[in-house]
Amino acid sequence: MIPSIKECYKLLEKQKVPSHIIRHSEKVALISSFLTCFLNLSGTKLDIKLVTAGALLHDIKKYESIIDRSINHAEEGYKFLLKLGLERVALVVRYHVVLPEKVFKSSEVFEEEVVFYADKRVKHEEVVSLEERFKDLRKRYGINENILKRLNKLEEVSFLVEEKLFSRLNFKPEVLLRFNSFKKEVKDALEEGLKNCPSCWRDLF
Ligand SMILES: [Fe+2]
Repeated sequence: MIPSIKECYKLLEKQKVPSHIIRHSEKVALISSFLTCFLNLSGTKLDIKLVTAGALLHDIKKYESIIDRSINHAEEGYKFLLKLGLERVALVVRYHVVLPEKVFKSSEVFEEEVVFYADKRVKHEEVVSLEERFKDLRKRYGINENILKRLNKLEEVSFLVEEKLFSRLNFKPEVLLRFNSFKKEVKDALEEGLKNCPSCWRDLF
């Protein structure tokens, strides 16, 4: 079962997710939906409903982890969604921070990769390059050698995923920066996006 966009917003509201986290998640969802639409045009069979729901819910437990640093928000989100019977979305949420090797090394593209990558391109609510996002992550979280090592590995994987996704697309990663001047209502755009039709995104080009 995959929740509708309306159900995702209800879940975010019920969990009292702060508005800045919702706005970040909306940006990640827009990018994920956009990428999925064009990846599917290139032949992948990604479930756009799953990608959109996974992106909207990926940080559903982020706030808890800000208050209590011992909480792993990806794992908490996974467990929470699993309890609701949302197994498939739960997995997208579980892997949005660290992607399993078997996923990014596979020649197949998975929904998890799209949300993982989109999240790495959104700093708060702003779409940025991978370089900029990791520069910021190092500044905010790189308090010791161990964490820095993990961030370097994560950056390496993010670039691999970028290469994998964009090798199937006929536009460059910089195109996503256009989402910084996206003027439409996000909910409407996400609903439109579920049609999985490239013309939904024509205003961006
Ligand atoms: Fe995020």
